[in-house]
Amino acid sequence: MSSNKTIYQPNPEFAENAAIKSMDAYWALQNKAIEDYEGFWKTFADEKINWLAPYDQVLDESDAPFYKWFTNGKLNVSNQCIDRHLADKAEKTAILFEGDRGDVEHITYAQLSLRVNKMANLLRNEFGVLKGDRVVLYMPMIPEAAYAMLACARIGAIHSIVFGGFSAEALKDRIEDAEAKIVITADGAFRKGKPYMLKHVVDTALSEGGKSVEAVLVVKRNNEEVEWVEGRDHNYNELIVEQPAECPFELMDSEDPLFLLYTSGSTGKPKGVQHTNAGYILWAQMTMEWVFDVKGDDVFWCTADIGWITGHTYIVYGPLAAGTTTLMFEGVPTYPDAGRAWKMVQDHKITQFYTAPTAIRVLHKMGENEPEKYDLSSLKVLGTVGEPIDPPAWIWYYEAVGNSKCAIVDTWWQTETGGHIISPLPGATPIKPGCATLALPGIMTEILSLEGETKEVGEKGLLCITKPWPSMIRTIWGNPDRYISAYFGDVAKDGKPVYFSGDGAVLDEDGYITIVGRVDDVINVSGHRLGTAEIEAAVAKDNSVSEVAVVGRPHDIKGESIFIYIVLKEGHINTDIKNHINTLLGEEIGNIAKADHIIEVPGLPKTRSGKIMRRILRSIAKGEEITQDISTLEDPSIVEDIITKAREA
Ligand code: PRX
Repeated sequence: MSSNKTIYQPNPEFAENAAIKSMDAYWALQNKAIEDYEGFWKTFADEKINWLAPYDQVLDESDAPFYKWFTNGKLNVSNQCIDRHLADKAEKTAILFEGDRGDVEHITYAQLSLRVNKMANLLRNEFGVLKGDRVVLYMPMIPEAAYAMLACARIGAIHSIVFGGFSAEALKDRIEDAEAKIVITADGAFRKGKPYMLKHVVDTALSEGGKSVEAVLVVKRNNEEVEWVEGRDHNYNELIVEQPAECPFELMDSEDPLFLLYTSGSTGKPKGVQHTNAGYILWAQMTMEWVFDVKGDDVFWCTADIGWITGHTYIVYGPLAAGTTTLMFEGVPTYPDAGRAWKMVQDHKITQFYTAPTAIRVLHKMGENEPEKYDLSSLKVLGTVGEPIDPPAWIWYYEAVGNSKCAIVDTWWQTETGGHIISPLPGATPIKPGCATLALPGIMTEILSLEGETKEVGEKGLLCITKPWPSMIRTIWGNPDRYISAYFGDVAKDGKPVYFSGDGAVLDEDGYITIVGRVDDVINVSGHRLGTAEIEAAVAKDNSVSEVAVVGRPHDIKGESIFIYIVLKEGHINTDIKNHINTLLGEEIGNIAKADHIIEVPGLPKTRSGKIMRRILRSIAKGEEITQDISTLEDPSIVEDIITKAREA
């Protein structure tokens, strides 16, 4: 086993043909961006985007932090992802679908075009969905989800995908916040060999609210019986047949919204992160080419769900904009056994494999020697995203999966950044396990203090992006003030507010960036981002609960798990508090919000001004010694009581 101090040099054979072949090439690009930021972006926007009308300004900062890119340019993202490839790639597989039960479908660019055009016609002509309307997708991992996204992009509707693991309540909130006109869903799909259902969640959500919704379009996937609301529900499979094969696309402005995606923050309800057409698609495509180095007949597999930003950018938009073949998988990589993912790599000759550290840890634990049983020689680049990766998992991934010849791109980014921000380049960057390395060319990151001072090497600080970039969040849907306060309210450098990510990071002597995790009240469970405030609000709905505090606790597989402290109201006794509260969390948010630990405590550690001392609760959850001064607490003795309860848990 290699030591985690080892530096892993790029594979020279790979580097020879890579898009960025060396650190000199990296620095040439990055220096160009430093010297002439707008010129840098102009070069790529002109080269990559199929402009339907030219833009007149690269970057408009006049209304900062509401930055605008490629102002007044016109394009269409479905043209960028489909139509422009038809001349030379019509028969190339665009989407390679593998179902949970092993069913495989190759969807060519020509077929994708036909299906997206028909779906766009269906939305526009049958349901009156027009430019700017919001369409909520509550979909399993089936090709129709991608058709729906691209159909929205074609007619200028704004999609908002809600991850299929979210509850009816969470779905309803998102439908209402976006005032969606239509919901697209499926009866259900298959998982671990069995049908599972989705449509009833939409039914529940709409029975409780979501009055803006005029229609529900239902794709039949598992053909299980579902309830049907006459007049509201429509069968996609029947209606699509009659749709005309061509749907002229809408001319979209660079800055028109492309989609909303709700994500958790440190306060309040999840926020609708708004992305635009031009800047987003440009960076989605560029990072496919630079970070994953896709080319020729590569077959790219990102294991995320389309309900997360990773699925948006690296299952659908990025790969298709780059004209590559993207694999979409309905099932889970551990079913029917821990070799499923590796069998799929072998069967489809996957060239780039992109997954989360949690999945790597599970695959490692369940089948350390499983990769040996398959021919994984097609792999060129391995990727990871969503949480810090620990060196042992990294090394197993590198050696057992990548046969010590594939670079691992540890990509740091966020829903708000649209695409990768910090990552190694597989043909150029010498890699240190567990380290995201350097900002990509064109991206300016700095590790700062709250006062905007640059942190020294080895000193933890706040990970900031100090210049606007094309694929950045533009605003929070319906709440521009929250956009400013959430991202530009904490750190200012030289008097100018800069984007603060919510993550902590540290620079090493080589200028490499290591991410240390969130420094705000956001928990990252298996790469799923959850706000403690959101979980606390859900728990507080229980009428036996007087007070609640939620913290994260390190977890071997999931990265972090949820730890909840509850104070019950006087006179309330709950003998099965864990099940009780987890059922509530399942209903209010979804199963991803269920806690590993829920303990009842007599009180919470508070300062005399009533502020909950979360640092103490975090330390207790971790089983750490309490080193903080607790003498300033309103009732210092409470800490001992909580520690005793936590030990018993
Ligand atoms: O804390 C960081 C972590 O995931 C957060 C973003 O979550 P989300 O918006 O759901 O997007 C996840 C997929 C892009 C970040 O603030 N994170 C993401 N990638 C990494 C990471 N932490 C460490 N290393 C990474 N490579």
